[in-house]
Order: sequence, then structure tokens, then C-alpha cells
Amino acid sequence: MSLVVKTVPTKPYEGQKPGTSGLRKKVKVFQGENYTENFIQCILDSSDGAVAGSTLVAGGDGRYFCKKAAEIIVRICAANGVSKLFVGKDAILSTPAVSSLIRRNKAYGGILLTASHNPGGPDNDFGIKFNCENGGPAPDHVTNKIYKLSTEIAQYKIVDGLNIDLGKVGVNQYTVNGAPFTVEVIDSVADYVRLMKEIFDFERLNAFVSGKKTGTPLKLRIDSLNGVTGPYVNEIFLNALGATPNSVVHTTPLEDFGGLHPDPNLTYAKDLVDTVKSGDYDLGAAFDGDGDRNMIIGRKAFFVTPSDSLAVIAHYLECIPYFKKNGITGFARSMPTASAVDLVAAKQNKECFEVPTGWKYFGNLMDAGRLCLCGEESFGTGSDHIREKDGIWACLAWLSVMEHTGKSVEDILKQHWTTYGRNYFTRYDYEECALEPCNEMMTTLEKTITDPAFIGKEYSSGGKTYKTKIADNFSYTDPVDKSVSTKQGLRIVFADGSRIVVRLSGTGSSGATVRLYIDSYEKENVLGSASETLEPLIQIALQISQLPKFTGRDAPTVIT
Ligand code: G1P
Ligand code: ZN
Repeated sequence: MSLVVKTVPTKPYEGQKPGTSGLRKKVKVFQGENYTENFIQCILDSSDGAVAGSTLVAGGDGRYFCKKAAEIIVRICAANGVSKLFVGKDAILSTPAVSSLIRRNKAYGGILLTASHNPGGPDNDFGIKFNCENGGPAPDHVTNKIYKLSTEIAQYKIVDGLNIDLGKVGVNQYTVNGAPFTVEVIDSVADYVRLMKEIFDFERLNAFVSGKKTGTPLKLRIDSLNGVTGPYVNEIFLNALGATPNSVVHTTPLEDFGGLHPDPNLTYAKDLVDTVKSGDYDLGAAFDGDGDRNMIIGRKAFFVTPSDSLAVIAHYLECIPYFKKNGITGFARSMPTASAVDLVAAKQNKECFEVPTGWKYFGNLMDAGRLCLCGEESFGTGSDHIREKDGIWACLAWLSVMEHTGKSVEDILKQHWTTYGRNYFTRYDYEECALEPCNEMMTTLEKTITDPAFIGKEYSSGGKTYKTKIADNFSYTDPVDKSVSTKQGLRIVFADGSRIVVRLSGTGSSGATVRLYIDSYEKENVLGSASETLEPLIQIALQISQLPKFTGRDAPTVIT
């Protein structure tokens, strides 16, 4: 079929600035005339023509507007000379799956249709993110370029008559302006499942999960929260690992996530937590809308903080064939993540990096062969098998550790803390606050803590006293390309290594979300209650930041 390219005049929209993880707005905003078309065109234009003749991947988490956006991508890619486009069936591809497909197919990049863990549906959020040829989120210089283009755009190119049946796996071939254009609608899970089988020992895991090894099947509760991971979970846990059918729930991707907030934490995955707490389960796990986040809980809902999860996986990394084969390079965590993994790195004599919030900062280190395992406190864990965090991967890593040690989740953690000491950690989120006062709070706090008189000051609460040692607005120089990222969060480090971090979220779609992170290390007292141990430092943080005054909030929306 030969098709005609149309050039459509358009005007810039304000605010098409990608945040921590792509452009996120309300669905209604994306539905604005030419809004989505503009942004897609700017993504392609940011390549300075390199998309012509290239391969791209597109897919998303199945939320409302995904299919529509995928159709727009097909038409705009056709008009801009892209030679091959892989699209997931029904526009479904998890974020880790897109990352893998980009790498496997040596694509120029991928367009991800997701607002990750934000709620979906016509009145909720949508998002578009661009990943580069290494499979990872576009770095700042690329997203800045896309944003700049969005402020200047005057036209986009589209092939109007190109209608693809995204529900049918197969190859669709066209000729556009005399050049071939192929859209391959692919099975959403096949490539990803193959990747997991290359990384983990599925035979051993099957024996463990199905009960062939122990005589009793493992009691699992895997909750996809009606997000994209459902089909992947069915294929991996039920079909490949032989888990009992009732081990998985909410595995049909729904456009509004069935009203669930697809964020795997103690607040939004409450159903999982309650079920595991009152039931008979060895392991519970949940993933977010696009499948890159994970939460792990043990028997009776014993909670594994993401910071601890990272450290434990680091400690046992060699029980996973991928790492046994490729070797262990270094580890990394985002700055607000508790520093438990640093202790494992020190013991193993490995490099350990502290990067700003956002997965994109890990990519360069992975590409340079200096990093093989990393994580964020925000329920992100992953490795250099792709360039995104990976929820299902993390769950398979935990299964591998359980199989290897023969221990329960709780016992694995307790043993870890006995060996290394424990980083008590909590994060308070104050969601959808008014933007202005939050900006003012950050400015005031920065001024307070960067005053030289702040260092050496003592703060007391609940019988504990903390002395300030370092305080700054975190800035990061990428060890590989030497690029500098400034203003990445205010941090106060105390003499005993405990930390307070305050930053504003970069992923919200309206207002401001304040995140307050508290990290406190204890060498001996490792079995205490996290909330009690952290209470004094929380009070000190609220006092120094004057958060209640600026936000008008006396309690956070979410505590993790
Ligand atoms: C949040 C998390 C961050 C994560 C990002 C994308 O960003 O804090 O760790 O990389 O979502 O999943 P934030 O809203 O804090 O900018
Ligand atoms: Zn996500």
C-alpha cells in the first residue's frame, strides 16, 4: 500500500517538559488538539534526522489512551521515514520489555506510553517517555532538547490513512514516499520471557516453586494490580514456574487499573499486604502499572524495604546464573536510598555509586561496565540486563535467593542485618500540595542548611541527639561523561551517618509532592521497630524544614 505524508501546521504547547521519567499529564491534556502529535514529532526531531531509516519500539502499560497514542505514533513514524516499528499487541508492553526489545533489535530507541504508578482512566494520568538505543530513559540533554523543540514546533508530519489492527500479531508492510515502512505487531511477552530464562535458572526455580523440590508448592501471592505485568506474570509464574493458579491476582491489564492505584507500596497495595498478613503465604509481590517497580513481602507481610532488598540481592548475587557468568562489577543506588548496599559493596570490594533520583542516571555506568546491580528506595530494583528497573526480575531474584538459602524472607533479612547492621528507612510523601509554598520551603531550607553555621549544630528529640556534619543540595558528576546534574535534593547528613533528605517529586502531574526521606543506621539494635527508631529524626526533619507550616499538612499522604 502506498501512502501519502501530510504536513500539519501546529502551535507549541506550554509545559511539554519531561520530568523524572517522561512527560506526565492528565489524559485530557494529551487529548488536546495536536498535543500528543506535537510531542511525538519533537521526540523524532530530537534525533536530528537519525530516525530516518531506523527501527523503533512502541508500547505501553495498557492504561486509557495507550492504544490511541500508539496509533498516532505509527502514523507519525511512517511520515518521518522510520523504517521499522515494533508495537506490542494491543499496544501492551511493560517498560522492562521495551528496554529489552530496544536492545535485542538494536533499535534507535523506544516510545513508552505510561504514567507508571499514577492512576489511569479518562480522568487520570497518561505519560510518554523516550528511551534511547541502550534501552534506557533518555538522558537530560535529550529530554531538554525535546522540550526546547516543543516550544518551537510549527508543524508535524503524519500519514493519516494508516490504520493498523493492533490486536493482531503480524507484519504490516507499506511504502511511504517510495520507502518501505514496516509495522510489526509483536507478542507482548515473548521476548521478555526469553530474557528472564537467559538470566535465571528456571529449572531450579520451577522445582522450588512448583514443589518438585520440597514436596510442597511455594505459597505465592503475586499481585499485578491490573497493570501491564499480568500477562508476563501468567506466563512466567504459572506456565514456566508451575505456581498454583491462585498464586497470581489482578492479572488482566485494565485501562483504569480497575480503580486501583497501581503503586506497589504498603498504602496502595494494601489488599496484598492484608491478604498475606492474614493468610498462609511464603512470598508476596506487587508491581506497578508499567511493571518496573516491585514490592516484596514475606510471611505475615514482613516488609522488605527496597533499600534492604537491593542489599540482600547484592549479597547473594552469585546465585543467579547471569551474574555467575558475567561477573559482578559494581553497585549503585539513588541518593535518597538508604545506604545498606554500600556496606555489601565495601565488604566485596566493589565500586558503589550514589546517583540522583531517576533510573536514567544508572545507564552510563552500566554501559561502561562499572555497574551490574542498582536500586532506588521507590521500589525500583534492577540490573544491567536492561536499562530500566524491573519488577518481575526483582521477584525472580528473591525467589532465587530463597531457593539458594532455603530460608524465609524474614530470616534472610535478619541474618543480613546481623552481618551488616541495619539501615532503618522511611519515606513520607505529601502529595498534591500547592506548588508555590513548596518552592518557598525548599528555598528557605536550602538557605538554612547551606549556611556554614548549620554544620556542627545539635538537634535533639525523643532522647536522641544528632549533630549535623554535611548539608547541601545534592549535585552529581557522571563519572563516565562528566555531565553535571545540580539541585537533586536537599540532604542533611549527621555525624553518625543518619540522613534527612527533602526533595520535590519530578513525576507528579499537578501541584507539588514533597518527599521526606529518613535513613538511620544501627549496628547493634537491628530488630527494633522502624517507626519507633526513626521517630526522633522525623521530628527533627519536620522542625528544620518547617514542612507543616509551608504545606499546611500535619500528616503525610503516604508513608513507606
Ligand atoms: C519517583 C521516584 C524515583 C523514580 C521515579 C520513576 O520520582 O522517587 O525514584 O525513579 O519516580 O519511577 P519522583 O516523583 O520522586 O521524582
Ligand atoms: Zn513504573
